[in-house]
Amino acid sequence: MTDNNAGGDVRLTGISKTYGSFTAVHPLDLTIPQGSFFALLGASGCGKTTTLRMIAGLEEPSTGTVFLGDRDVTDLPPYKRPVNTVFQSYALFPHLDISENIAFGLRRRGIKSVKKQVDEMLELVQLGQFAKRKPHQLSGGQQQRVAVARALINHPQVLLLDEPLGALDLKLRRQMQLELKRIQTEVGITFIHVTHDQEEAMTMADQVAVMNGGRVEQLGEPAELYENPRTTFVANFLGTSNLIEAEVVDAATDVVVSAGGAKLRLPADRCSAETRTGGKLLVGIRPEKISMVHADDEDSIAAGRNKVTGRIADSSFIGVSTQYIVDSPAGQGLSVYEQNIERDSRLVPGAEVVLHWNPAHTFGLDAAQDIDAGVEKVEDAQ
Ligand SMILES: Nc1ncnc2c1ncn2[C@@H]1O[C@H](COP(=O)(O)OP(=O)(O)O)[C@@H](O)[C@H]1O
Ligand SMILES: [Mg+2]
Repeated sequence: MTDNNAGGDVRLTGISKTYGSFTAVHPLDLTIPQGSFFALLGASGCGKTTTLRMIAGLEEPSTGTVFLGDRDVTDLPPYKRPVNTVFQSYALFPHLDISENIAFGLRRRGIKSVKKQVDEMLELVQLGQFAKRKPHQLSGGQQQRVAVARALINHPQVLLLDEPLGALDLKLRRQMQLELKRIQTEVGITFIHVTHDQEEAMTMADQVAVMNGGRVEQLGEPAELYENPRTTFVANFLGTSNLIEAEVVDAATDVVVSAGGAKLRLPADRCSAETRTGGKLLVGIRPEKISMVHADDEDSIAAGRNKVTGRIADSSFIGVSTQYIVDSPAGQGLSVYEQNIERDSRLVPGAEVVLHWNPAHTFGLDAAQDIDAGVEKVEDAQ
């Protein structure tokens, strides 16, 4: 089957989903570039699966339109959309061998000679030697690859993956992340990957949409989201951020704030909030951007750095780095990651220290937000 209009971006315009009085997905505009590896990232219940199911045609949107390229597919049933889905439960057919599992989509369309295409798919997912096995004779990661091959043999324009690695243990998940990325690069079609795992999204995706409560809070390349989060949720959900409550002293090209007696500086273009003198601002800095010296060595800090004083409350040695918790007049419980190169033996709990960092690494957020939004809670940590 050739389709001259094949491809094109996936475009969602004003897509929403309500169940009774509950809104699972608020009206959403999103463009997913053709051929990209795109991740929808967010905590459980934020509306990722619902969004994916609306793209697949498995869920009818309450409002809005789904476009594939220029084509409005909103009213098409799932089987008429050039889209396939891989679920977390691989849903393989236990009584069919791997070849026949992969061939399933072709057989259903009445295609008799499937060998060449099945062999190509087996090679793509590197399972050639397992062709005659049954699913239960494969590991979880191998079954996952069968599920991907079974979807890709239909030559979809878009592959949807809903937490496809959720059932795998951590090490296997890491391997499969690289494997899926390789497969996507090789076939070149759009992958839309749903996950609650921020590391997974950042490892694989060209672009990540961070969802929270049925809305996309921020969309961008992984590094851009990480370095310049625009909401407290994004700052806390992607990695760890120190957020310091501060008052704006001067709002020019550089914004100057005061926090616990310290004056801190940040570039105005890294502030997602409006800044005006006397107003509040949450000042953010990632733990690995901070350097720490003993208070006796404060004079060694280069001019122009942001500086706050504090006392080490806790430290944990984790091999590549040591992670410190520092209580400061600017903020309690600041996280500092120091690379394990030369360790200063004075830097132990109780020590007076000065934290310093490049003002250019600082970001500014609207202080009206919940400062703890997106912080991983103990009960979600398993
Ligand atoms: N059929 C349904 N009826 C009522 N509520 C639903 C239904 N499906 C999903 N929801 C609710 O919508 C919200 C989003 O669900 P979902 O998209 O599955 O989240 P995620 O995939 O991000 O974990 C959740 O609060 C969920 O309970
Ligand atoms: Mg889900």
